[in-house]
Amino acid sequence: MFQVENLTKRYGEVTAVDNISFTIEPGEICGFLGPNGAGKTSTMRILTGFMPPTEGRVTVAGFDVFKNPMEVKRRVGYLPETTPIYTDMRVAEYLDFVAEVKGLRGNAKTRKVADIMEVTRITDRQRYLISSLSKGYRQRVGLAQALLNDPEALVLDEPSIGLDPEQIIEIRSIIKDLSGKRTVILSTHILPEAQSICSRMMIINRGKLVAADSTEGLTKKFATSGRINVKLLAPPDEAKSAIEAIDSVDVVSVENDETGVSVFSVAPKNKTGFRKALTRLAVKKDWELLELSEGAVTLEDIYIKLVTEEPTQTKFAENGE
Ligand SMILES: Nc1ncnc2c1ncn2[C@@H]1O[C@H](COP(=O)(O)OP(=O)(O)OP(=O)(O)O)[C@@H](O)[C@H]1O
Ligand SMILES: [Mg+2]
Repeated sequence: MFQVENLTKRYGEVTAVDNISFTIEPGEICGFLGPNGAGKTSTMRILTGFMPPTEGRVTVAGFDVFKNPMEVKRRVGYLPETTPIYTDMRVAEYLDFVAEVKGLRGNAKTRKVADIMEVTRITDRQRYLISSLSKGYRQRVGLAQALLNDPEALVLDEPSIGLDPEQIIEIRSIIKDLSGKRTVILSTHILPEAQSICSRMMIINRGKLVAADSTEGLTKKFATSGRINVKLLAPPDEAKSAIEAIDSVDVVSVENDETGVSVFSVAPKNKTGFRKALTRLAVKKDWELLELSEGAVTLEDIYIKLVTEEPTQTKFAENGE
């Protein structure tokens, strides 16, 4: 559905999107994850035909976004980051107006608007002025306008930003209902959201695509970089420096409880070597080793690792590692 080849977007001196390539198959639900300023919105604006790329080629259902933005807009529903909603209009009136702009007329238009209000669960708010709606309802109106022309694909820029937990659950369930045979791309800062909705994550950092895989795929790829949990009955400070001295290991976190047990979460470069050395250390010092276990790698660990590392160290996406 979406084919992106060597996409670059520059605003003057700023390179917002830096030579990104990927393909999104029809029916996929893809999450764009990345810190502020990563380039998610810029990428989405190009994918939806709202902004031309500086370099590279993007096609949507075979149409070039640069040469055929109208064909692209016909096939893609877009919920922008800031919804340009006419706040002095009533909900139904606004959707009727958008439907007209999108080429719908007469009964077909009336039916469509009623339908979409059902889908996005705003029928009971149709007579409200948009300015009087809560953020969550306004977001749903934004979603409704994106759906009016029955698009094959939906591009949603942070659909749940600023919503309360209840509204987040509601909008997620609407998006899930909508996905079905549609292709969906959504950007988010909420990792569990990406995990619960998306079949694939695209992690974007400083304009570069640093990973693209399912949660399982990412977890597998990063399993070797996971942590080890160590529980020791030992003087905490002494144990900490001794552990750090092994293979210059990175102690990620330490907790101590009143019983004198110290819990370390460490990220060694060589896990096997670390386990052996730690066992030897415990015997030598006569510290009781209560636990030595593999810590689970979470999407959060992976995300943090990818977006905090220097760009040169995140090359794995390109060299296939
Ligand atoms: N119209 C513009 N003019 C100049 N620079 C821009 C413009 N739009 C975005 N940028 C810059 O491009 C970079 C990427 O911005 P973009 O909005 O695409 O990031 P984002 O990933 O959507 O961030 P956020 O999570 O904060 O929404 C940023 O450095 C931003 O300052
Ligand atoms: Mg953005």
